[in-house]
Amino acid sequence: MGVILVHVANADPAPWIDELRRQAPDLDARGLDAVGDPAAVEVAITWKLPHGLFRTYPNLALIQSMAAGVDHVLADSDRPAHVPVARVVDPWMARSMVHQVALAVLRWHRRLDWVEAMRADARWPTGVVFDADAVRVGVLGLGHLGQAVARAMQDLGFAAAGWARSPKVIDGLDCHHGPEGLRALAAWSSVLVCLLPLTPETEGILNAELFERMAPGSLLVNVGRGGHLVEDDLIAALDAGRLAAAALDVFRTEPLPAGHRFWSDPRIYLTPHIASEINPVTATRVFVENIRRIRAGDAPIGLIDPAKGY
Ligand code: GLV
Repeated sequence: MGVILVHVANADPAPWIDELRRQAPDLDARGLDAVGDPAAVEVAITWKLPHGLFRTYPNLALIQSMAAGVDHVLADSDRPAHVPVARVVDPWMARSMVHQVALAVLRWHRRLDWVEAMRADARWPTGVVFDADAVRVGVLGLGHLGQAVARAMQDLGFAAAGWARSPKVIDGLDCHHGPEGLRALAAWSSVLVCLLPLTPETEGILNAELFERMAPGSLLVNVGRGGHLVEDDLIAALDAGRLAAAALDVFRTEPLPAGHRFWSDPRIYLTPHIASEINPVTATRVFVENIRRIRAGDAPIGLIDPAKGY
């Protein structure tokens, strides 16, 4: 049995290695510094392994992303194409994502910024009605996370519909697809939530053309990837009142540079890529299961199709 390489960009892999050893003491889990013979590496569990390294492991049998997204893996053009790539599919992450999106939608819908401004002035308004019937949540991306978010929005009493690249049938949810479907969903939605994978087709998908179709005062929630958003188009849509606010958790450059205009714009609900943090205990269960599956010759959970990019 080979080495299980664990690598987390800008973080110590030790807690992950400890958890792997706790759940599966037989596994030989190591950080990048302790790999030794590259030919011994059987599985790479990673968040942003430096590009070019995958191809130096001739016996690599699985690339396991430490995230729901695999764009950081597929961006390595030297990656050996025959090695299966798996993303994390974990209900823990789906629940966390639901909470993040609910927080943004409710903050916008219940006008929390306005409420807090009134509190600051000790003002007491009357006749306040929050029109829940006007909240129509369009979810872009109908995978594990997107479906969980759409259902949760319905459970909160909001209308929800979705969009995916190809046709989908999901019980109780209107599913759009293709360019026409995207335009139709934007025109219907007062909230657009982006949970798409980042691929060449979805890069810059959150742009002026889409925002212009939305009703004035709408909300954008981007919990996909920073590359989905055209930043100048967002600012223009906010300035024009097309969008009232944008909840952004992901950015083209992360960490978001100190001087970036998003930091100080009150119309942007900003969080530092924490919408759906990976949980060491529950995600490690998935890793252990996937190692077991690969060794048994079975497909791992969360196997992606590199041609599609998700
Ligand atoms: C986080 O961004 C993830 O892809 O899980």
